Amino acid sequence: MFFQKKGEALTIDPLRLPKHIAIIMDGNGRWAAKRAVPRKAGHKAGAEALERVITEAKKLGIEHVTVYAFSTENWKRSDEEVAAIMDLLRQYLKNSFQRFLKDNVRMQVIGDTTRLDKDIQDQIQEIEEKSKTKNGMTVHIALNYGGRDELCRCVQKIARKVANEQLTPNEITEETIGSFLDTAGVPDPELVIRTSGEKRISNFLLWQVAYAEFYFTDVLWPDFGKKDLEKAIYYFQNRERRFGGR
Ligand code: FPP
Repeated sequence: MFFQKKGEALTIDPLRLPKHIAIIMDGNGRWAAKRAVPRKAGHKAGAEALERVITEAKKLGIEHVTVYAFSTENWKRSDEEVAAIMDLLRQYLKNSFQRFLKDNVRMQVIGDTTRLDKDIQDQIQEIEEKSKTKNGMTVHIALNYGGRDELCRCVQKIARKVANEQLTPNEITEETIGSFLDTAGVPDPELVIRTSGEKRISNFLLWQVAYAEFYFTDVLWPDFGKKDLEKAIYYFQNRERRFGGR
């Protein structure tokens, strides 16, 4: 948790920004309950918050943002809620991402997309293809994503290489593993933000967060905005990062 001292200005050093911020967008349901509106209204407000945060992160000069939009565990929610999130995703890909494309933003999806509806898979493929030359910033959306599932898929890919004699067991290094993860080629997140007061990693980027700083806030995701993002980055810049050294 981070407490801003009264009168303390949050000066962000543009030369020490985290290259990659990962966000667990939690609290949509509680935001909706507080207002006595359906949970799907909370997710809609969450999608709007996401658009704001991507825009602000880009303005600040953050290179990568990864957001946990739908986990492998989220299928356990009611059919109605899953359908509402999938519809929001469709709209997001259709509208918000067309705007981001104009703003030089690249989009990539992590997770096992094969379980998503075919029309969503097609939309994802189209935006990934259209945006692959954009270099303003990259937004990675985790969909049907779980850290353990990603590691299983990674080990399967490596095992196939070994079985085909394209790789020997001794050649399997941390770099090899990294190159078979969904995040291959993307720098590890340096800052993880989780909203709504929960302090768990919930199967998000398990391998990649090895050295990340964690920022937890009570703010519910739909209320998260520019000032909250700045606070998180300020917190990050005021931590000493030692990577296990001295
Ligand atoms: C967690 O809140 C949020 C999710 C499981 C879904 C995240 C989805 C969005 C932010 C909006 C959709 C965005 C896209 C791009 C599809 P919760 O429902 O677990 O909240 P609670 O813990 O208060 O119930």
